[in-house]
Amino acid sequence: MEDRIISAQMMTEDQTVEFSLRPRYLSEYIGQERVKENLKIYIEAAKMRNEALDHVLLYGPPGLGKTTLSNIIANEMGVNIRTTSGPAIERPGDLAAILTNLQEGDVLFIDEIHRLHRTVEEVLYPAMEDFVLDIIIGKGPSARSVRLDLPKFTLIGATTRAGLLSSPLRDRFGVVSRLEYYTIEELTYIITRAADLLGVRIVEEAAKEMALRSRGTPRVANRLLKRVRDFAQVVADGMITKELAKTALEQMQVDKLGLDQIDHKLLSVIIDNFKGGPVGLDTLAASIGEESNTIEDVYEPYLMQIGFLQRTPRGRMATNAAYLHIGRKSIDDRNA
Ligand SMILES: Nc1ncnc2c1ncn2[C@@H]1O[C@H](COP(=O)(O)OP(=O)(O)OP(=O)(O)O)[C@@H](O)[C@H]1O
Ligand SMILES: [Mg+2]
Repeated sequence: MEDRIISAQMMTEDQTVEFSLRPRYLSEYIGQERVKENLKIYIEAAKMRNEALDHVLLYGPPGLGKTTLSNIIANEMGVNIRTTSGPAIERPGDLAAILTNLQEGDVLFIDEIHRLHRTVEEVLYPAMEDFVLDIIIGKGPSARSVRLDLPKFTLIGATTRAGLLSSPLRDRFGVVSRLEYYTIEELTYIITRAADLLGVRIVEEAAKEMALRSRGTPRVANRLLKRVRDFAQVVADGMITKELAKTALEQMQVDKLGLDQIDHKLLSVIIDNFKGGPVGLDTLAASIGEESNTIEDVYEPYLMQIGFLQRTPRGRMATNAAYLHIGRKSIDDRNA
């Protein structure tokens, strides 16, 4: 898992590059047109009224730009951003301390918001709705509740698992936006822009070749660029041509659709060992030696997106397209 070049999850090697490549304003943020258009209007309206922006929930698979967009929102609003994450806030008091330190209009960004502790979440409800904090002073019969006013802030929550959010929490977000996988054109542009920023020379066709294998995900695109750049420096004169990109990507064992060895293993197990499915998630996990959660959050979303895998109530099924892609006879020919 850790070493997968095409993993959409953040790796340590991404950190420095991601920081320098991260778009700072909406105008630099490529794709996600609907989300951007809506946000642009809400931001403008909030600024005209001189108010804090409504609370925003961003959800979608890893690496699509949720953190980036949150920082952009704060930038466009001209306010500070305070970043934390669901599991990092251990006690209600931790959240209270964060909230009381915010300034009027600030953005509080909570990553992995689906992992907030229940007791912490309850502090968030009145804070989001009425901008107040209810704290209990004292213990036992003499305990009393005190209500503190908070500055009007904007909560931005990010999650890869919107389904795990409790409905009282979800209902308190005024803006709920789902980020989608990027198109080949958008990824080509992202790679070209990143190459520019990194001072790497690349031809358009090479960028497209890499875009095709980026699994719809900018984080993967940036990582492939970085690896191919190394390749170009060592075996060529530094220029990334289409041929060079192809050779490098093949060497990394990333196929034409961005699938790697583990994707191939997953599909071939479903097809060869379970006759194409349906096969239950846990059985599948045991067969390929991966965690069920990892399969569900990391491998499956993209395989479903490209129409290779279906989730049914009875388990996972491989589609005809998957049979053909991994070099098996089509389902119809088999049954004939
Ligand atoms: N729309 C975009 N245009 C250009 N580059 C982008 C865009 N979205 C993301 N990126 C690039 O992809 C990288 C990963 O994005 P980001 O960290 O925002 O993803 P994320 O959705 O927060 O992922 P995670 O779910 O792992 O937290 C960024 O550093 C940035 O360089
Ligand atoms: Mg993030």
